[in-house]
Amino acid sequence: MRFVVTVAVCLAAFVGSVGCRVFVPASAEVDSSFPILPGQSREVFTTARPTVAAAVNDFFGRRPIAEQPFDFPHDIHVGKQVACTLCHSGVARGPVAGIPGVSTCMICHRVIAADQPRIQQLTALSEQGIDIAWKRVYGFVPEAHVRFNHAPHIRAEVECATCHGNIGEQGIAQRNVDHSMGFCVNCHNENDASIDCLTCHF
Ligand code: HEC
Ligand code: HEC
Ligand code: HEC
Ligand code: HEC
Ligand code: HEC
Repeated sequence: MRFVVTVAVCLAAFVGSVGCRVFVPASAEVDSSFPILPGQSREVFTTARPTVAAAVNDFFGRRPIAEQPFDFPHDIHVGKQVACTLCHSGVARGPVAGIPGVSTCMICHRVIAADQPRIQQLTALSEQGIDIAWKRVYGFVPEAHVRFNHAPHIRAEVECATCHGNIGEQGIAQRNVDHSMGFCVNCHNENDASIDCLTCHF
């Protein structure tokens, strides 16, 4: 049964996205006050995904693996006892953990491993004042309008690994944990945290 539903939805997504592409004439009057949404390739506001593959991936909750511009090794740093919070310093204070810029890297790498090629690359970026454009690994689909806040979880002593898996074994971060609604609500239920819709949705 589930399979049948799946196929039906895929077909609907396929027909939906193809339809929009074919039947919207290029010269149609476009209200340019609508901003183009991330991942949207046309100038027309629509909930259809830009490609069939994007629609199918969205349906199954699959996201492309983020390709980072610089090969950052979490494992080496965590192995050297560098605390998560040194680089993700916002985590206990507010909603956003933050991803460090090159200036944070250079606090240590002005000296540490300065002769290594990757660190020399980093130093060159720093000298030119260029920052690394890290790609996001986690994040919610925009249309779910989820709001998340790290700080109350850190105060309640929820471990990073509960929500991110063992990042210390990885190089660049991978999406180890599926941040679905069930994942959040189960734990909120178990811990008497709020399950009011407006706690997590705006
Ligand atoms: C608290 C200090 C500290 C900070 C901050 C830091 N690192 Fe490191 N990093 C280290 C240590 C210690 C090593 C291990 C060096 C060794 O084994 O010789 C290392 C190793 C590395 C290596 C491997 C070097 C090699 O041998 O090829 C890379 C790449 C690296 N860091 C990148 C970064 C980047 C990018 C940042 C910023 C996002 C950063 N580091 C921030 C301490 C730090
Ligand atoms: C209760 C679950 C939970 C815990 C515990 C948690 N995180 Fe997160 N983290 C998330 C979610 C959900 C996101 C995505 C938030 C978004 O995109 O709005 C996220 C995003 C991030 C990001 C991406 C950038 C940002 O600023 O949001 C980093 C970095 C991060 N977490 C690091 C950490 C670290 C380090 C710890 C432990 C000190 C930690 N997280 C603990 C759930 C958690
Ligand atoms: C503890 C946090 C939390 C609570 C409470 C919560 N949600 Fe969610 N909800 C989420 C997360 C996380 C997602 C998944 C977002 C994603 O897939 O990126 C989600 C997804 C959804 C979606 C799917 C949106 C989409 O387009 O993918 C709907 C609908 C929804 N929630 C409705 C509700 C309603 C109604 C309630 C109250 C009964 C509620 N939620 C309570 C966290 C929560
Ligand atoms: C030396 C600095 C440094 C340390 C220490 C560090 N991180 Fe990171 N972290 C980064 C950088 C740089 C990125 C961006 C590259 C990437 O995604 O791997 C990142 C990315 C992440 C992400 C993905 C964020 C997103 O959604 O894009 C998570 C989750 C994360 N770190 C968790 C952790 C946890 C948990 C620890 C401790 C076990 C930790 N980090 C220790 C520098 C660090
Ligand atoms: C492992 C358990 C756990 C998971 C998983 C978890 N939470 Fe929580 N959450 C808590 C606890 C405990 C609190 C703190 C309640 C308090 O301070 O009274 C909390 C608090 C919150 C708050 C603040 C509520 C307030 O009253 O200010 C928000 C928002 C929230 N969680 C959203 C989420 C979302 C969204 C997810 C999924 C991505 C999530 N949580 C996953 C345990 C969890």
